[in-house]
Amino acid sequence: MQLEGKTVFITGAGAGIGRASAERCAAEDARVVVTDVDSDGGAETVERIEDVGGEATFYELDVRDADAFDRLVETTAEEFGLDVLVNNAGIGHPPAVVEETDRDTFERVLDINLRGVWNGCHAALPVLKGQGSGAIVNVGSLASILGLPKQSVYSLTKGAVLNFTRAVAAEAGPHGVRANAVCPGFIDTELGRQYFESQDDPETVRERMTAQYPLRRLGDPDEIAACIAFLASDDSSYVTGHGLVADGGYSAW
Ligand code: NAI
Repeated sequence: MQLEGKTVFITGAGAGIGRASAERCAAEDARVVVTDVDSDGGAETVERIEDVGGEATFYELDVRDADAFDRLVETTAEEFGLDVLVNNAGIGHPPAVVEETDRDTFERVLDINLRGVWNGCHAALPVLKGQGSGAIVNVGSLASILGLPKQSVYSLTKGAVLNFTRAVAAEAGPHGVRANAVCPGFIDTELGRQYFESQDDPETVRERMTAQYPLRRLGDPDEIAACIAFLASDDSSYVTGHGLVADGGYSAW
């Protein structure tokens, strides 16, 4: 899988899956534009990439800010070119049934998980379509294909991300631009840990959940990064409008 000569722009790359993807893409010889609201995390990602000889630059970006997203995509395209956008930034929410989920949670999760992805595509598509090539990888979830109880807002946004990805693929395909989603199962990151910590008995919940995965373990960020790098690379040149499920077999039965 080769990303040599490509510039990959990743949101939420200061931790977790975003950081692992930035490191993986850089290891495949891409120049990586690392963006995040967390400047310390973003700077650390860049440091880790540069320490092993990769090329990366950090820019602070809150994906909710459409104008800032537009400006940064424009700057990136001018300075380095733009080949791939990975819309990874996303948040979860404390478990609660619909009627006990407060409106602030609803607004916050929609703003980052949905508006953020839309802002990214809105900013990048003119550049990618204009040059007649490029790839977008949106990070969905198992919640893109299953409705998770007490995760209704998360499920709402991640289901929409997958269908939005298909719409983008249909629109942008004739211009040489692909759009795909990665749908991870439970991955050991800060977001994953927050979920367990919100449970009464985190250890038991973790054990029960792990037992439901045919591979009998939760996923590692590097395993999702590998899927993202594949969908970003020309190895997936005939794949578009697809939701690549990487869930240790959870949805298989
Ligand atoms: P994480 O919490 O470890 O990292 C998320 C990163 O996004 C952080 O660096 C954070 O600062 C950044 N971020 C948060 N809000 C932002 C904003 N408004 N603008 C820009 N950056 C922002 O989370 P993780 O687990 O790496 O999640 C990444 C993506 O993967 C998310 O879209 C998440 O929904 C998805 N995912 C995660 C799963 C898991 O089990 N960890 C499972 C399925 C999907």
